[in-house]
Amino acid sequence: MIRWGIVGAGNIAHTFAKDLALVKNNKLNAVASRSLEKAKEFAYTYGAPNSFGSYEEMFKSDTVDVVYIATPHTSHAEVSLLAMDYNKNVLCEKPMGVNLGQVQEMLDKAKEKKVFLMEALWSRFNPTIREVKKLVDNNAIGEVGYLKADFAFYGLDRDEQGRILNPDLAGGSILDIGIYPIFLSYLLLGMPKAMTAHSKFYKTGVEIQTAMIFEYENALSMLYSGLSSNSEMKAEIAGSLGSIFIKPRWHETTGYILEKGEEVSDVEVGKLGKGYTYEIEEVQRCLENGQLESDLWSHQNTVDLCSLMDSVRKEVGIRFPFES
Ligand SMILES: NC(=O)c1ccc[n+]([C@@H]2O[C@H](COP(=O)([O-])OP(=O)(O)OC[C@H]3O[C@@H](n4cnc5c(N)ncnc54)[C@H](OP(=O)(O)O)[C@@H]3O)[C@@H](O)[C@H]2O)c1
Repeated sequence: MIRWGIVGAGNIAHTFAKDLALVKNNKLNAVASRSLEKAKEFAYTYGAPNSFGSYEEMFKSDTVDVVYIATPHTSHAEVSLLAMDYNKNVLCEKPMGVNLGQVQEMLDKAKEKKVFLMEALWSRFNPTIREVKKLVDNNAIGEVGYLKADFAFYGLDRDEQGRILNPDLAGGSILDIGIYPIFLSYLLLGMPKAMTAHSKFYKTGVEIQTAMIFEYENALSMLYSGLSSNSEMKAEIAGSLGSIFIKPRWHETTGYILEKGEEVSDVEVGKLGKGYTYEIEEVQRCLENGQLESDLWSHQNTVDLCSLMDSVRKEVGIRFPFES
């Protein structure tokens, strides 16, 4: 039985706790919040036997094998480093750090303490996305020439102090949701040889729309993230022999459509729970095998993804107040 501890009892922590209950041989054993009352309430809701009024108290305790860091982006590095100092294995929400410097420090700590560390890039473990990756790698649609992926929702009605619109919490679209289209292009086509991007900014100073073009030897990817409207969120991967459309919302999809000439296959793969179940299973598999990183989403993958986001940010001039 893998004993999990949740750090930060916010939005995503609730969704994660529901999915955790669906995965065999894993249990929520503790919850840590900056408020003991909030931790107790969360623990009660999901049947966790332990609650802590500070993150460090949980890290010090012997109640958990692995902690899930579910705090805003800006605290991922600090909180994960503290957890690893107490020799805890860590699943850290995306983005692992707000920039490459933070990510590197986290990976160095994991190496030093010999603990497991993984970025919770849940879409990587989604069964449809795994199948699409296999199809592309096995040349099912020939040489890929075009990829289109987006992630958008209307977020301009959110609290300006909250993590989406607040520059002090590394707000904006790129780290929160732009990470997904960048991930898909990286997963299927690798590191681009060049890129260009354009952004629009909000009154709070955060970037709220970014359109990106990644250039590969024989392909172009058109990627977009935005907080000023919804978007369809159907991803398209087109090659010399056919196309794959990942059904909306593609990052949490349940299936895809494969088109080859007149032949159209509508494939429904399905998923368990909301889909966080698969990253939980991956952590379990790694811990049981004594692996300190995942083969499916390795430390190098996290470094590459973060470098790509750093490059996009540099191109469009996104700099957070705490970085200057
Ligand atoms: N994988 C996904 O699908 C997905 C979806 C949504 C979000 N996320 C990621 O999960 C992380 C958290 O997102 P969320 O939407 O759950 O955030 P949220 O609800 O705004 O905050 C999460 C929790 O973090 C804790 N916290 C620690 N320091 C904080 C600070 N300075 N300001 C506010 N809260 C702070 C709070 O918990 P306590 O008060 O209990 O300490 C808060 O409830 C983000 O990095 C995001 O990228 C991932």
